[in-house]
Amino acid sequence: MVTYNEALSRYVTNHFAVEDEALLRVRRRMAEHGLPAIHIQPEEGRFLQVVARACGARRAVEVGTLGGYSAIWIARGMVPGGVLYTVERDPQHARLAREHVVEAHVPARVEVWEGDARDVLPELSGKAPFDLVFIDADKQDYRFYYEWAVTHLRVGGVVAAHNAFAHGRVVKGDDEIARLMRAFNALVAADGRVVSTVFPAGDGMVVAVKVAEADGAGA
Ligand SMILES: C[S@@+](CC[C@H](N)C(=O)[O-])C[C@H]1O[C@@H](n2cnc3c(N)ncnc32)[C@H](O)[C@@H]1O
Repeated sequence: MVTYNEALSRYVTNHFAVEDEALLRVRRRMAEHGLPAIHIQPEEGRFLQVVARACGARRAVEVGTLGGYSAIWIARGMVPGGVLYTVERDPQHARLAREHVVEAHVPARVEVWEGDARDVLPELSGKAPFDLVFIDADKQDYRFYYEWAVTHLRVGGVVAAHNAFAHGRVVKGDDEIARLMRAFNALVAADGRVVSTVFPAGDGMVVAVKVAEADGAGA
């Protein structure tokens, strides 16, 4: 078996996930403003862009905006004229993200909704069904975000969740994040409403396609 390593990661990034000036600027600005470098990796961004394109995403939701880095990747895969609602509770992050998505000239409209996702997601429910939901926020609420996502996705829509590998500690780690992500991954893997796996680049991304409604009806 081939082990995915830094050299392979660089190879994939250099061929498929080269950042343009807009993305590089976002990362520079986030550093200048003291935001933590906890954004997704370029490979993961490109993966989300491909997924958005594959599912013809017109309406998408992101939980956890930070400076808008992943939002730009996602929006670039969406149908022109589509809308990405991205939720962020930190006002400074939200303000920067708004600036960054405007400067990146993405084909979809990006709306940054400020507030705690537990409060904001119910407000977004009226805009369902969604084609894509990306989860990248506090791990203790992943289960809540996931349930909300599966409920509000159309059949054929996709939910992706970052940090499936819990910073590499998911297999044996005994810290809270490792325990939370083990439980979360197990929940998704056993969910009959979706077909799922983990995209194993970066810190791992759970990806699940909705195949049935909650009552088992559907495709
Ligand atoms: C890992 S960062 C997101 C990175 C971003 N997706 C990217 O790759 O560019 C997590 C972000 O989620 C925000 N966040 C954490 N918990 C949240 C919550 N309950 N509601 C809204 N935002 C939250 C944090 O403030 C932070 O900006």
